[in-house]
Amino acid sequence: MSGRFITLEGGEGAGKSSNLEWLADALRAAGKTVTVSREPGGTALAESIRGVLLAPGDEPMADDTELLLVFAARAQHLEQKIRPALARGEWVLCDRFVDATWAYQGAGRGLDSAAIADLESLVIRDTRPDMTVLFDVPVEVGMARAGKRAALDRIEQEDRAFFERIRQCYLARAAQEPSRFRTVDAGQPLGSVQQQLGAIVEEMLAWP
Ligand SMILES: Nc1ncnc2c1ncn2[C@@H]1O[C@H](COP(=O)(O)OP(=O)(O)OP(=O)(O)O)[C@@H](O)[C@H]1O
Ligand SMILES: [Mg+2]
Repeated sequence: MSGRFITLEGGEGAGKSSNLEWLADALRAAGKTVTVSREPGGTALAESIRGVLLAPGDEPMADDTELLLVFAARAQHLEQKIRPALARGEWVLCDRFVDATWAYQGAGRGLDSAAIADLESLVIRDTRPDMTVLFDVPVEVGMARAGKRAALDRIEQEDRAFFERIRQCYLARAAQEPSRFRTVDAGQPLGSVQQQLGAIVEEMLAWP
């Protein structure tokens, strides 16, 4: 038995977290057993790694440290939560996954693609998303939304150009893999975003 693995991606303030439960409820209403999760994090240990990753601190974090911590958290999350849920036949909905590493650590930080690709195959192996929903929003709109929340974390403190590279990376990945990605215009009001998501859910429910 094998479930389905759905990931939500997009920049800051795009609406991933706001729509995760909405998507989960739509799938539950159709009779699916759904596990929701997020990255970095998803298990107690992986959430502590998230804390290390996001805490602003006096000591600058080396880019390689950030990359390895992201993948350390992901390895734990996959082994303890994602793979077991998929093996039970559940639908796993995850707020960010490996595309976020290509976007943030690859395009954002400028880290070497070969290193990311090596870690990806080491850690993820064949646990690949069946579908990735990209919440695409102009950087200023997303930042304005996210800025209304509490204090900015270590990564949210980056400049606008960093987030523009992230957006462009996500769009390029979606264009390269149209069979996996569905892109939502997340700059629209919530009702319109959820209408777009409704069509995507219909598509998922039609899967064999
Ligand atoms: N379509 C929308 N229109 C207006 N406001 C929205 C919309 N979607 C989300 N928001 C608001 O924008 C803020 C950020 O949304 P949310 O936390 O879901 O984004 P996110 O993609 O999870 O961001 P992050 O990557 O920073 O976690 C929230 O206050 C949310 O209520
Ligand atoms: Mg979020």
